[in-house]
Amino acid sequence: MQRPGPFSTLYGRVLAPLPGRAGGAASGRGGNSWGVPGSHVQPPGCAQSGTSGGAGRTNTSSRKANSVFLDPSTMSKAEEAKKLAGHLAVKNHVRNNQVLGIGSGSTIVHAVQQIAEKVKEENLKLVCIPTSFQARQLILQYGLTLSDLDQHPEIDLAIDGADEVDADLNLIKGGGGCLTQEKIVAGYASSFIVIADFRKDSENLGDHWHKGIPIEVIPMAYVPVSRAVTQKFGGLIDLRMAVNKAGPVVTDNGNFILDWKFDRVHKWSEVNTAIKMIPGVVDTGLFINMAERVYFGMQDGSVNIKEKKPFC
Ligand code: 5RP
Repeated sequence: MQRPGPFSTLYGRVLAPLPGRAGGAASGRGGNSWGVPGSHVQPPGCAQSGTSGGAGRTNTSSRKANSVFLDPSTMSKAEEAKKLAGHLAVKNHVRNNQVLGIGSGSTIVHAVQQIAEKVKEENLKLVCIPTSFQARQLILQYGLTLSDLDQHPEIDLAIDGADEVDADLNLIKGGGGCLTQEKIVAGYASSFIVIADFRKDSENLGDHWHKGIPIEVIPMAYVPVSRAVTQKFGGLIDLRMAVNKAGPVVTDNGNFILDWKFDRVHKWSEVNTAIKMIPGVVDTGLFINMAERVYFGMQDGSVNIKEKKPFC
């Protein structure tokens, strides 16, 4: 019989807790992981900044937007905010004859609803490339034209949600386990637009999202990959466990997901490259320098747009 221990996977955690960190069994995937104000990670020496207002309201106080407790009214406001963000992004970016990348998660549902309405009203010809089984079902459910990268290797516009967005528009994605296909679709899109509610807006990654950075791995390698990541970069790793099935989550690609709970702010571009080089890693949920614009639906009914700062 398997006994819980430092390398036990009985509860999903694959490494012993590091000194000074509370350990424990793996977190389930139920519920959400946005924390109350304050970070569980150490900020870097200098704060990152660099957002500018787009077509909507400029964010002058991201702290204000982040001061969110998860009571029921916040949850329903979040749902409303997702809708606002999705609708405005579709209005501003979706045009006739585009090849569209369709992201995964709950926020994208609002965008797809809006795309379907726009197609009907304006008689648009669009082709949609899914980022997951869920996205494929959504495309079909809303009567949109489904295609793939074999037929459409160049995407005009990809729209997707995110779990957290930092001040430089770096993202954590993969809360829904679809990070690899999401990154492929975003990576082959001329334009990548993110839609999110106010809870996702952070100064630094880890300020509000506490479930860590997802890493998709080939199943046979999940233990050595977990050891390599924590030996190099610290923190803790959980093997993501399924909720209504015994055992781990299996991705649309037949792989496992590790959730890396990092314990400080890193140079994310370097960390992402280093993790991707570890044998057995398929991809990470770090989307560095990929999003060109993020639409945050706000609690007050407005939409806050952040754009990538010009390279200088
Ligand atoms: C799935 C993702 C989602 O885009 C991300 O988890 C955001 O989801 P939601 O819109 O439900 O908050 O990366 O892999």
